[in-house]
Amino acid sequence: MVLILALPPVVANGQQAPVASSRYKAPVISDTGALKGPRQPIFFRHDIHAGQDQIPCMYCHYSAAISTEPGLPSLQTCFGCHQLISGSTPSHQAEIKKVRDAWRDRKPPEWIRVYALPGFARFPHMRHIKALGTQSCTTCHGDVQHTPQIEQVSTLRMGWCIQCHIKNNVSRDCSVCHY
Ligand code: HEC
Ligand code: HEC
Ligand code: HEC
Ligand code: HEC
Ligand code: HEC
Repeated sequence: MVLILALPPVVANGQQAPVASSRYKAPVISDTGALKGPRQPIFFRHDIHAGQDQIPCMYCHYSAAISTEPGLPSLQTCFGCHQLISGSTPSHQAEIKKVRDAWRDRKPPEWIRVYALPGFARFPHMRHIKALGTQSCTTCHGDVQHTPQIEQVSTLRMGWCIQCHIKNNVSRDCSVCHY
């Protein structure tokens, strides 16, 4: 129910009601070239969606806790809001137009993957969320709520995995992580 309450309210005539943003206001970014991480096909900002507008991570990455692959949201998830929300500034409007065009053309954006392990390593995402909690995202992905553009903040090296497994008393058998 937290999920429903945290969604930005949209009034019936299609206009966006003021979104509660007393806690955090995402900054205006004029120099996107200075941001770390790969430039995505649409400048989708986590600091606006997950930070300012408080949309829970699991609203978009709902399979993170039930699947080995957390997955990226479908365009339908975006369009559910963006057929009504067109943006409050010219730069937001320009990026949101890309979402609407993609929907119209049935051409979902090809997001560039940031966190990816080599195929020979096994990482059951949902087991980690179950053990560490749905608030544990920051442990491995950093302060996403205040990040305009996703970048890799953990090494994803074997030593990084092992360190935490030692701390949590989890198996370090080679076969646990390697096929
Ligand atoms: C409104 C939908 C939405 C919400 C809410 C959201 N995300 Fe995302 N997330 C995306 C989209 C779209 C991408 C792909 C584009 C990108 O990398 O920015 C993504 C990418 C990511 C990635 C990088 C995936 C990869 O390896 O390429 C991580 C990590 C991530 N999100 C974590 C989070 C966390 C943690 C939260 C909550 C604090 C969150 N997301 C909330 C839509 C969302
Ligand atoms: C213990 C570390 C850890 C935690 C905690 C964690 N992740 Fe991940 N996440 C990873 C790793 C490692 C990958 C790369 C997995 C791979 O390539 O197989 C990943 C991949 C992703 C991706 C990329 C998309 C995909 O299908 O692989 C998203 C999105 C994501 N995580 C979101 C989240 C969210 C949301 C949370 C919190 C609910 C979270 N993660 C918690 C380590 C973690
Ligand atoms: C729950 C509602 C909701 C969902 C779902 C949602 N958005 Fe948004 N989005 C918003 C709100 C609210 C704003 C802020 C609009 C403004 O004030 O300009 C926004 C702003 C944006 C902007 C402009 C700011 C920025 O982030 O650069 C883009 C682009 C955008 N959304 C893309 C997406 C994409 C792509 C998805 C799907 C992965 C998505 N949105 C899903 C509510 C949503
Ligand atoms: C922040 C701590 C943390 C990090 C980082 C981490 N893990 Fe884990 N991992 C855990 C915990 C806690 C469990 C136990 C989950 C459970 O009890 O089901 C676990 C369980 C696992 C399991 C299942 C173990 C079994 O007994 O079946 C695998 C496989 C695994 N992790 C792989 C990885 C890989 C690969 C990495 C690095 C890419 C990694 N983990 C990084 C905390 C972590
Ligand atoms: C907790 C998970 C985990 C366990 C346990 C684990 N590994 Fe790994 N291993 C990884 C990950 C993730 C990678 C890929 C990232 C990297 O290369 O550091 C990797 C990479 C490797 C590589 C390739 C290194 C390279 O530089 O390309 C070898 C070889 C390897 N592991 C051997 C082992 C052996 C042998 C064991 C048992 C003693 C073991 N691993 C236990 C997660 C694990």
